Amino acid sequence: MPSDALASWKARLYEGLRFLDHRNQRRNLAEIRGVNFCSNDYLGLAESAALQKAVAEAVQRAERVGGTGSRLLSGQTEEWREVEEEFAKFAGTEAALFFTSGYGANVGLLSSLVGKDDVIFSDEQNHASLIDGMRLSGARKVIYPHLNLNALEDALRQEAGAPWRKVIVTESVFSMDGDIAPLAEIANLAEKYNAALILDEAHATAVQGPSGRGLAISAGLTHRVLALIHTCGKALASAGAFVCGSAVLKDHLVNHARTFIFSTALPPYMAAQIGAALQLAEGMDRERDLLLGNAAALRESLRAEGFDTAGTGSQIVPVVLHSNEAALEAAEHLQREGFAVRAIRPPTVPPGTSRLRLSLTVRIAEEELSRLVRALVAWRSHEASCATTRHA
Ligand SMILES: Cc1ncc(COP(=O)(O)O)c(C=O)c1O
Repeated sequence: MPSDALASWKARLYEGLRFLDHRNQRRNLAEIRGVNFCSNDYLGLAESAALQKAVAEAVQRAERVGGTGSRLLSGQTEEWREVEEEFAKFAGTEAALFFTSGYGANVGLLSSLVGKDDVIFSDEQNHASLIDGMRLSGARKVIYPHLNLNALEDALRQEAGAPWRKVIVTESVFSMDGDIAPLAEIANLAEKYNAALILDEAHATAVQGPSGRGLAISAGLTHRVLALIHTCGKALASAGAFVCGSAVLKDHLVNHARTFIFSTALPPYMAAQIGAALQLAEGMDRERDLLLGNAAALRESLRAEGFDTAGTGSQIVPVVLHSNEAALEAAEHLQREGFAVRAIRPPTVPPGTSRLRLSLTVRIAEEELSRLVRALVAWRSHEASCATTRHA
């Protein structure tokens, strides 16, 4: 017989979900069907026979397939030491430390590095993992409008000469708008106002920059940033993330980042998977050109049809439809046409900017991109004629 307490907790949960239903914001787990526009497997490595073979061999070779404990207890192995060294070379930094997810990397990094006497300048569209890390750090936050460097400079100027430490936190490729931060300008502002810089390269890893080594390298910034975050669950078709930076930063994190210290290591074969994915990805310039070329062409076609693709310049192409209803209806229409496309709504994006988020991969054929644009145009015409009938 359930207790009253249990029943009342459950009633509150139902109430909360009904509230989300009412606002068209309830999320559900659903399997992907159709041409996949929701995947972050940008280079198609998740289905690569070469990567699958490397993983199978690593499992065969492995003495054990469990992580067995935190890296500070029994989880440390030669495989992790090696892959961290390889990754630091790839990222162009002195050292790298692996975390079991990008979420954990950002939370562990920010909460252990920044404290309540510091101030963080954060782009308003930074990912939830960065936001949660900042919250946990207890630092004062100054949120600047998305990519607005004048506002960032004004905010930095107000703190000029203050005794506390300052740090700017930004993504290099933004996950929702797909736009790219002007990193050189941000780094110049950081230096001008004596602030440090932390860059999340999650959507740039293996996709952007020379051999996919990220945008900090393209902008020549690797020695001017406090930390770079590269994730392995997206274009590297694996899991986890590296925080890259100086050797002293790595030592600090090993000693203070709670998401590193108090979490079980991933199994050692995962290090081999990441190492193999990295090697494959470095040689995939052709795929990167194809991916970014397709994204540019899609963006152009959508804009030519009058759709708002925000400021995107990457493999992520948003179609901003503003209302939750429009985004949901467009997504449903595209799903019926055989495309796996999801509507992205607040709180993931700011109110009034509900959208479709088209995440391109090299697995999507060019004809499918043209078909998708035609399907969206057809949806919009249908909507317009329904609206005319409603108002007639
Ligand atoms: C910008 C950014 N940082 C961090 C993460 C978290 O990475 P992970 O999925 O490995 O936890 C994501 C995931 O979507 C992301 O988009």
